Amino acid sequence: MSNNIFRKRQELEGITSLDDLKSETIDVLTSHESIRAFNSKTIPGDYLEAIITSARSAPTSSNLQAYSIIVVSSQEKKDSLATYSGDQNFIREAPVFLVFCADIHRLKYVTNRQGYQFEGDSLEMFLLASMDATLTMQNALVASEALGLGAVPVGSIRNEPIKVIEELNLPKGVYALVGLAIGYEKEGVRRGIKPRLPQKVTVHQEGYSTEHLEEGLKGYDRQMVARRTYEGRRVSIAGEPERDGLEYGWCEHTARRCTRPETIAASASLRENLRAILESHGFSFK
Ligand SMILES: Cc1cc2nc3c(=O)[nH]c(=O)nc-3n(C[C@H](O)[C@H](O)[C@H](O)COP(=O)(O)O)c2cc1C
Repeated sequence: MSNNIFRKRQELEGITSLDDLKSETIDVLTSHESIRAFNSKTIPGDYLEAIITSARSAPTSSNLQAYSIIVVSSQEKKDSLATYSGDQNFIREAPVFLVFCADIHRLKYVTNRQGYQFEGDSLEMFLLASMDATLTMQNALVASEALGLGAVPVGSIRNEPIKVIEELNLPKGVYALVGLAIGYEKEGVRRGIKPRLPQKVTVHQEGYSTEHLEEGLKGYDRQMVARRTYEGRRVSIAGEPERDGLEYGWCEHTARRCTRPETIAASASLRENLRAILESHGFSFK
């Protein structure tokens, strides 16, 4: 991976305390940037194997391994999944699209196989399986980046759950939680590591504190405005004219998105039937 691609967060945020810490893993983690445009180069088989093995190496609640990964390489299926996932074209372009599923189907099967009644229909089991699936996604993302590939998680895979269930043949108890598009990035797509909220806002010492919230939000807004993060991406508020002199930074963008949840989910319905769909597909929220 070339050095101009490798721009660590500690450089962005001026963190010097880590200068002497030579860790390739931390360099990869702190250089993360989502990539949303891929060229046609295929991913070597051993790379994909390494990515999947890394995913499977993630920690898992009680070693239940309540996840499944669907590897999608066929153009036809990627096209369908792209359409179902907010029409995001990078899913079509990516040579591989991984779909990470919360999976309690296997646990039910094993429980019955051993002659018992499955009693794990609960919110806790849903959360546990969702966490297991998410951790495997994150490991796959980091492994991809460590191999010089670009990747982006895809939460929009939840936009059309029923179509995705049919497309991927997901049995009851298996739910497509998040996707990961992986490939070689098109030249010039990087915009630089996206700044995060200041550490003092999101990381608390010994207990929750809002002491640094206001100053942190103001500083972060300035940073995101200077970076032109939201140019051409403003969320409009129905019936409200744009306020003069408004600083449209993270706070304004985030607040507007929270008043219009569909802009978070990129789907008109904000997956409003998700609970009912999941309940009819083998999950419970008791
Ligand atoms: C669970 C999850 C779902 C996401 N879904 C999408 C998505 O559907 N489409 C997309 O373009 N980016 C998606 N992203 C990427 C985020 O937009 C991105 O991580 C965030 O803006 C921070 O930017 P960065 O990853 O470049 O640092 C998702 C990220 C996560 C963690």
